[in-house]
Amino acid sequence: AADCFRSGLLSGRHLLVTAGPTQENIDPVRYITNHSSGKMGFALAEAAAEAGARVTLVSGPVHLPTPDRVERVDVVSARDMLAACEAAMPCDLLIAAAAVADYRPEVVAPHKLKKDPSTVDGMLLRMVRNPDILATLANRPDRPFSVGFAAETENLLEYATRKLLDKNLDLIIANDVANPSIGFNAEDNAVSVIDRAQHETRFGQASKGHIARQLVAFIADRFLKA
Ligand code: CTP
Ligand code: CA
Repeated sequence: AADCFRSGLLSGRHLLVTAGPTQENIDPVRYITNHSSGKMGFALAEAAAEAGARVTLVSGPVHLPTPDRVERVDVVSARDMLAACEAAMPCDLLIAAAAVADYRPEVVAPHKLKKDPSTVDGMLLRMVRNPDILATLANRPDRPFSVGFAAETENLLEYATRKLLDKNLDLIIANDVANPSIGFNAEDNAVSVIDRAQHETRFGQASKGHIARQLVAFIADRFLKA
């Protein structure tokens, strides 16, 4: 694995990474988001740059410094993230680590919403589906070698394998977010990578930086063999 970094195994290759949460506005002062810290995506971008890749990192709102030699594009919503990714294409490799909001409010109110008499008992907010960024890019004619994440709290391998096949991915990184010491917002992670032959490779609990280097070495090896 260390070889991958010493020899610049990914030099001359363009890697696109999505990271962080997306933020979906309700009105000018309110929004819906999630607990993604962006740490895993940023660590992957950093490791890939160390392996010699040209890296474009499309990030939702996070509080993290940009890794060295990484081109960062900041976005807010899922639709912005898709547009930024499409603008960054073509790429050789895609790693989708962002926690994209599945839904957004159907309308963004132009003014701050008021508590009016019609909402004394509560209110309904109608949500519509966001585009699937990973599935969109992985199904283009110029599709990159595509790697997704599956954050699950139950049936991890079954759900992850389904996503791999449904989205037309090459690899999926499965991570158990029911365990608070790994995954979302945590410093550490522990993951399994599943390929299209449904073979599982485990990476035991370690810092996100260490896991990222192991994952980049693994992904680079599979990409170069593909
Ligand atoms: N993803 C994406 N765009 C979306 C939703 C998900 O690019 N609108 C990507 C994520 O970055 C991740 C993978 O798809 O790499 C799986 O995301 P996940 O939320 O686990 O799966 P979903 O397909 O959204 O299914 P569900 O949330 O229903 O489990
Ligand atoms: Ca989702």
